Amino acid sequence: DWNAEHIIDELIEGVRQQVGEGRVLLAISGGVDSSTLGLLLSRAIGDRLTAVFIDHGLLRLGEREQVEAALLPLGVNLVTVDARAEFLGALEGVSDPEQKRKIIGREFIRAFEREARKYGPFDFLAQGTLYPDVIESAGGEGAANIKSHHNVGGLPEDLAFKLVEPFRTLFKDEVREIARLLGLPDHIRMRHPFPGPGLAIRCLGAISEEKLDILKRVDDIFISGLREFGLYDGCSQALAVLTPIQSVGVMGDERTYSYTTALRAVATDDFMTAEWARLPYDFLATMSNRIVNQVHEINRVVYDITGKPPATIEWE
Ligand code: XMP
Repeated sequence: DWNAEHIIDELIEGVRQQVGEGRVLLAISGGVDSSTLGLLLSRAIGDRLTAVFIDHGLLRLGEREQVEAALLPLGVNLVTVDARAEFLGALEGVSDPEQKRKIIGREFIRAFEREARKYGPFDFLAQGTLYPDVIESAGGEGAANIKSHHNVGGLPEDLAFKLVEPFRTLFKDEVREIARLLGLPDHIRMRHPFPGPGLAIRCLGAISEEKLDILKRVDDIFISGLREFGLYDGCSQALAVLTPIQSVGVMGDERTYSYTTALRAVATDDFMTAEWARLPYDFLATMSNRIVNQVHEINRVVYDITGKPPATIEWE
């Protein structure tokens, strides 16, 4: 019988024993695992935890504020780093998806290292590794590694911390339950997965601040709409893509020549295969109307009806 309160006490005890008087560094992504780990570590060791949240400019609308609003009032020693200019500068003119991932991974480590030196020294690096991650990496190069998923790794020698991974034996559902008891707001606790490279891989081709801004507004309308219509929890992941396609439209008496956005929602157990979500037509119609009315840079909305395989969930 799995008792979350009891598990929390055990995890806290385990962290205290491992860490002693040491100091711990944690990268917060804004997802459920790292946010929950931030709350747990904060309970266990207080301000000997430094949680670093890097705003790479590829986050969703209001995401940085949501993460701060969730963690700061609960006492997490959170440092937010505005690294938008560095990331966007490094990505300028880059259109190849794997190249984008490499650059973002590299910039992430660079920014994280800098913060580690600024607030350090640290004895430990905490990671929200879950049981399935442990199994997967033990299995070597699986299909999940076809795209170079980035997590914190590859830090230089002098920052070679010991790892603190209290969730190594847990499944996602268990972390969500722990998160509930620790007071993490539901919108983060029950959030769909979001890739490390963020909106960069949903803004097809070379990205720009202008394109990211369009995509953020479209994504926000779609995701808020799914929540409003009670459809969010029924999808495993949902996203909007900004395509480079511009097409002709009409608005009042004017011809327009604007961007096409693609909406995608999937149902899956393991993200290795997925079915496109059969969202109600009325909902899709409402989303389409809202998007073209509120985002003037968009004049065409399409819905992705491709499964994985052959398509991937992301478009890049
Ligand atoms: P695909 O597009 O490969 O995505 O079907 C499967 C799952 O992995 C996520 N994904 C990523 N996550 N870094 C990440 O942290 C990445 O580069 C990356 N690429 C895809 C994707 O959002 C989906 O949940």
